[in-house]
Amino acid sequence: MIDIHCHLLPGLDDGARDRETTLRMLRTAAEDGIRGIVCTPHFSPSAYCEAEKIREELCSAAAEQGITLYGGMEYDYNHLLLNEPLRSLAGSNFLLLDFCSATLPAGWETVFGELQLRSFRIIAAHPERLFQTLKPVRELASRGVYFQLTGESFLGRYGRGCARFAFRLLSEGFCDYIASDAHDNSTRGFRLSECRSLLEKKAGVECCRRIFDGNPAALLKGDTPERMEPVEARGFWRKLRERF
Ligand SMILES: [Fe+2]
Repeated sequence: MIDIHCHLLPGLDDGARDRETTLRMLRTAAEDGIRGIVCTPHFSPSAYCEAEKIREELCSAAAEQGITLYGGMEYDYNHLLLNEPLRSLAGSNFLLLDFCSATLPAGWETVFGELQLRSFRIIAAHPERLFQTLKPVRELASRGVYFQLTGESFLGRYGRGCARFAFRLLSEGFCDYIASDAHDNSTRGFRLSECRSLLEKKAGVECCRRIFDGNPAALLKGDTPERMEPVEARGFWRKLRERF
């Protein structure tokens, strides 16, 4: 599996606090079946400057665990308004964006239009933890936004409501990637294989292959993810809703 959202790099944000934590996280990720990690510290001017050097220094330690590290960044929506420098995921033209709000900010279509003119595409980080309804998600999807859900959301870490909405988004076809958003080795860890086993039982092996393997691999090549067919998804939701 390839994890496209992870706060692995030490000392840059609220993720790994030091190199030892990072090395422990790498061991855990390897045990979890992860073979590639896109390092996505929260954007700050200093994190932007330092992240690539730190990532390069960790590449050989990661390789010892069979893991390849890729560059990236996680942006809050407000960073887009401030014309901060943009680092995409793994050299693609996808930006990882946290809306940090339960509603879509005024004027977001204009901002996204400008980004599209610069050939950027947007992946919304963990919409299941922000939004309460499908309406903003549908609006974003209609403007070409993709969605990365967090594995631990399905496992109940953020509560029953969040888990239920994560399943709803998956069932409606609004789940292009599942990533860990891991910040450490304990309270906010990887758990992708645990999430995958759960979803293989509920959504099927093929669906999981697309979300955990195919779509992240496509991202590394700059290709768009393959979306689940809505009809297939709705049937899936009918089966699920009795349980959540
Ligand atoms: Fe994050």
